[in-house]
Amino acid sequence: MAPKTKYDIIAEIAKRRGFFWPSFEIYGGMSGFTTYGDLGTKLKRNVEALWKEYFVRKQGFLELEAPVINPKRVFEASGHLENFKEYSAECSQCGNSFRADHLIEDKTGLENVEAMGGEVIKGMMVEHKIKCPRCGGALKEPTLILTMFKTEIGATGGEVGYLRPETAQAMFLNYKRGFVHNREKLPFAIVQSSKVARNEISPRRGMLRLREFTIMELELFFDPENPGCPWYNDVKDTVVKVYTEKMVEDAIDAPMVISVEDAVKQGIVLTEWQGYFMGLSQKFMTAIGIPDDRQRFRAHLPDERAHYSAQTFDHEVKLETWGWTEVSGCAYRTNFDLKNHMEASGQNMEARREDGTKFIPHVVEPSYGLDRLMYITMENSYERRDGKRNIMHIPKELAPYQVAVFPIVKKDGIAEKAKEVSDILISKGFWVSYDQGGSIGRRYARVDEIGTPLAVAIDYETMESGTITIRDRDSWEQVKLKVDGLPEALDAYFKGEKAFLELGEKVVRD
Ligand code: GLY
Repeated sequence: MAPKTKYDIIAEIAKRRGFFWPSFEIYGGMSGFTTYGDLGTKLKRNVEALWKEYFVRKQGFLELEAPVINPKRVFEASGHLENFKEYSAECSQCGNSFRADHLIEDKTGLENVEAMGGEVIKGMMVEHKIKCPRCGGALKEPTLILTMFKTEIGATGGEVGYLRPETAQAMFLNYKRGFVHNREKLPFAIVQSSKVARNEISPRRGMLRLREFTIMELELFFDPENPGCPWYNDVKDTVVKVYTEKMVEDAIDAPMVISVEDAVKQGIVLTEWQGYFMGLSQKFMTAIGIPDDRQRFRAHLPDERAHYSAQTFDHEVKLETWGWTEVSGCAYRTNFDLKNHMEASGQNMEARREDGTKFIPHVVEPSYGLDRLMYITMENSYERRDGKRNIMHIPKELAPYQVAVFPIVKKDGIAEKAKEVSDILISKGFWVSYDQGGSIGRRYARVDEIGTPLAVAIDYETMESGTITIRDRDSWEQVKLKVDGLPEALDAYFKGEKAFLELGEKVVRD
């Protein structure tokens, strides 16, 4: 049996503890779909909330929620019907289809084969004698296949519709409403964090390639003659590791280490807004716990770039199982989308400068796969301690539960007291898990594995002198303090005002 990868380990914990698991399990499952349990739902929501803290709240950007199903004409105008396609190779024996670039990557160890273009992909399939991975049969020449889900709108089949593969089109369709809401001033952004669907040919890599997933997208509208970003100073000195198109093409090993400001000044990054979002992205990924040496920005080659993009940088994170993995793309979409929708709908999307000149706004788009981010947070948090304990060091701002409350024993009123403490913490707004089952050691092991930062134990001392013990997930240190001061202490800890050992008197262990 192949050795367990880091992904296998995390997926096993995720399933056993209830973060996420394959959907439709009782019917044998179906690849490309995942279901979130209690812990995963909460973790995902907290990652999304942190993203909005970085990308929405501080800038006062607008939010939107629009339909998943769209009529065909939206994707005709956006260019998706013509371009949202992948090379697929069908087996002449068993009839299964596979993404050709992925088959080549599996056989050769090459990365990012998609960027090499159709003719190279077809040639490599022959050159490397690639056969069907299911039955070993001969594969037909790869052809381009549309990877959008098609449906009918109206129970009697009135009109063809598609499930959206990105949320961005809704921001373009509703751009004018946003513009009016923003007092007809640029720049402004519309953000949507919502479900999309992509009918992947042969999804693999579990959580990293889903057929239905949540995407967090931001469309920033600006005047190309006034391209300044008002928050640029917050990030311009941020140092990023960049691979330019030329460096990717020449397979250069070491990245360019450069400040956001210099990357924009030197024309490596085309717009200040892209620079801003790349710098912000670096800060955000650091906040979810990814160290700098596991982050980089890689330019898309023309064949890899989406049809609407003049330049895209992927923000990549290095994972143990799959190496450098895209978590977001920052694309300069120019006025491609608004122009197309203006032509197709007949609605004017132009803005007017003070001097009376008219223009169609340009767009920069940072876009994040939330499910991936949630998985990456878990993988990055994982520690195997002493060969026997799993600890998820999930940043305290993201942990599904903030505090666990345990009675040391159930008798002598201790369970009732613990429940009372738990209820007080819940009433103060904390996310609390109460657990009175099993040995205290097993309960601590459980909270470590699900990433709960603090555990409060109620014992005989609590009954006698009102003292409780708090245990830190990461260090396993303990402090004692009076139960009356517990909500304030936890508040200070979660706001980052106090470190763990400042919460009470350290318990000295033998
Ligand atoms: N809008 C980004 C994407 O489709 O991936």
